[in-house]
Amino acid sequence: MVDRQDKNNAKEPKIKKLVIIGLGLIGGSLALALRRADYVGTIVGCSRSQSTLDKALQMGMIDQGELDVAVAVRNADMVVLAAPILSTQALFESMKNELSDHTIITDAGSVKRYVVEAAKNVFGHIPPQLVPGHPIAGSEKSGVTAADVGLYRHHNVILTPMSETDEQAVTTVRLMWESVGANVIQMDVDHHDEVLAATSHLPHLLAFSLVDTLAGKPDNKEIFKYAAGGFRDFTRIAASDPTMWHNIFVANQNATLKVLDQFSTGLAELRTAIQYNDGEKVLGVFTRAKVAREHFSLILEHRAYEKQQQIMNTKKISFVVKNGGCLKGEIRVPGDKSISHRSIMLGSLAEGVTEVEGFLEGEDSLATLQAFRDMGVVIEGPVNGHVKIFGVGLLGLQPPRGPLYLGNSGTSMRLLSGLLAPQSFDVELSGDESLTKRPMGRVSNPLTSMGANIEAAAKGTPPLKIKGGQVLKGIDYDMPMASAQVKSCVLLAGLFAEGKTSVTEPAPTRDHTERMLRGFGYQVETQGSKVSLTGGGTLTGTSIEVPADISSAAFFMVAASIAENSDITLKHVGINPTRIGVVNILKAMGADIEINNTREVGGEPVADIRVRSAALKGIRIPEDQVPLAIDEFPALFIAAACAEGETVLTGAEELRVKESDRIQVMADGLVALGVDAKSTLDGIVIQGGKINGGEVDSYDDHRIAMSFSIAALKSDGPIRINDCANVATSFPNFVELLTTAGMSLEVTEMNS
Ligand code: S3P
Repeated sequence: MVDRQDKNNAKEPKIKKLVIIGLGLIGGSLALALRRADYVGTIVGCSRSQSTLDKALQMGMIDQGELDVAVAVRNADMVVLAAPILSTQALFESMKNELSDHTIITDAGSVKRYVVEAAKNVFGHIPPQLVPGHPIAGSEKSGVTAADVGLYRHHNVILTPMSETDEQAVTTVRLMWESVGANVIQMDVDHHDEVLAATSHLPHLLAFSLVDTLAGKPDNKEIFKYAAGGFRDFTRIAASDPTMWHNIFVANQNATLKVLDQFSTGLAELRTAIQYNDGEKVLGVFTRAKVAREHFSLILEHRAYEKQQQIMNTKKISFVVKNGGCLKGEIRVPGDKSISHRSIMLGSLAEGVTEVEGFLEGEDSLATLQAFRDMGVVIEGPVNGHVKIFGVGLLGLQPPRGPLYLGNSGTSMRLLSGLLAPQSFDVELSGDESLTKRPMGRVSNPLTSMGANIEAAAKGTPPLKIKGGQVLKGIDYDMPMASAQVKSCVLLAGLFAEGKTSVTEPAPTRDHTERMLRGFGYQVETQGSKVSLTGGGTLTGTSIEVPADISSAAFFMVAASIAENSDITLKHVGINPTRIGVVNILKAMGADIEINNTREVGGEPVADIRVRSAALKGIRIPEDQVPLAIDEFPALFIAAACAEGETVLTGAEELRVKESDRIQVMADGLVALGVDAKSTLDGIVIQGGKINGGEVDSYDDHRIAMSFSIAALKSDGPIRINDCANVATSFPNFVELLTTAGMSLEVTEMNS
């Protein structure tokens, strides 16, 4: 390891003699910054121009100037090539006989394969002391006087060591760049050249070409006179050093040609779209570009990292909820998560435009939305719950450029695997830590028997690698568990399959997929517990109004029931019969719930639900209610803990494979708050009574976090719930609504 020199002790610098060949913007800025950093001993500058050397000496950036490369590198510990890239081989030739075995050679060129080949040509092999490098920094200015001491601060420097490269040499070069404030990363040589061809070389080519094309026009004075900010921004880099850039295109010919061809194809497509008034195509390209650019702006401003940090930090938030209080007023909780997911999926696969109102802007449904954007679907919004989807038809999805990241969302992964298995392209689905532990065999098994090719991780968990180009055949599937996700996955695959696809469910599960398919004009048959459809039809774009999510409303139903003097009305809640287990169970426990103003919107029943405090009693929960209340059990366990007597849940083993093991996590949390709760294999037994204040963990599960929040209404002290950021997956304004309704909840950093 190479020690950094400490200004306060007189340690010898490890790089006693450093030679920089080429003192333009790049070499000069490095020399200036290194001089300040005090990391090297003597800095020797080498240039073909005496006046450059004089200037560099005068500016104090070098200790010694040399015109002759061989003389300059004699006894050097490190040599940095910062001259035009096409001179690399000649420079290696000139220095060859003067380099010792320990002289480290690095460079600052924009193309890395060229440097490696030049070294091979001269030295006959790849020298272990060669560490190709590329600082991603620059400006349109050139020459020694343009040198900028801060040029590399907070900029990336890419090193591309090879298998032959000495590790110590890499470390020495890394420390040198870090001493001038750069952030050092490593990359494979050819990958570097491809990435830079796309992100740097192509934009320079376009800027040079555009300015040249316009400058060549007879009315060019007019054009430049009236050129607005857009022109100035876009063409700024056309003022860069022509020699340097000419060198780069010669040195990186293959990679630049490849990306130039891709760009030319895209441009030609846009030309055709404009010629034939294909507004949708043009809008599609622009919308996708805007979204990508917005994300990219964050990266440019170094905010993507910050944002990532914020996300990581928010992963560490806790809720501290004051005990006591009651709930009053009228509130509307956000849109239904299940319906929001499906609106994006079916809207994307439909012919024509679909408009959605009331879309849930939570992380889970946004993950679905992003996945379809990544597959080329133009989606406007969401803006205040409004989303406009320009459907591409069942066969119109395009291969995404990388894996589709679905965050925490099991619904996204399971439903998407159904509609992606029949596509012509390969795709990989990945997710966060919690999703990566969840079982996917339940969807890959039926899909495989339809003819799909899906590879999961060893335990049947994500990531899922789906091989495209498979022809799927309809199946008659007897679903082993009551799961709407599995049912929906198979039905979505059935849209593309040959013949009829049927799913028989062991108990009724939410039927939003079937209802929405019908809303899109697709024929779906339901006979008892069997749902069937025949592949090969089309979906027609439509309008969807997403009702408020009964799963989110459930926290308020339990809260208002357990807290004395509460009276709350939950507006426009979806009361689909496959979702109202929570109402049935609470009523059986003695809750005071009124369903008012029942109506139907877009094929889904909705109502306003009024809940007033009531004395709850423990019950044995009927097993037929379990699938109808599957997401509401964490909240119902809080109701049970506040009820008089014993509540027993059985037949709910599915709860163990949700975002967390909801049986165990709830039992542990309840016990931590002094409640007598015992988990069983498929349920829980809770003795209602007193709840203490205390500290519990949500295990990063949104519904656990929200359930323990409402428990504070009845606890004898405040409740602190750790790891609550995931509430944003399904209920982004939970804290706001809960406090508006009358509770006192503080969001703090975890461990503070
Ligand atoms: C959902 C189905 C349920 C539910 C999940 C959403 C859906 O999962 O728990 O939150 O949108 O289809 P299972 O199908 O695993 O029961």
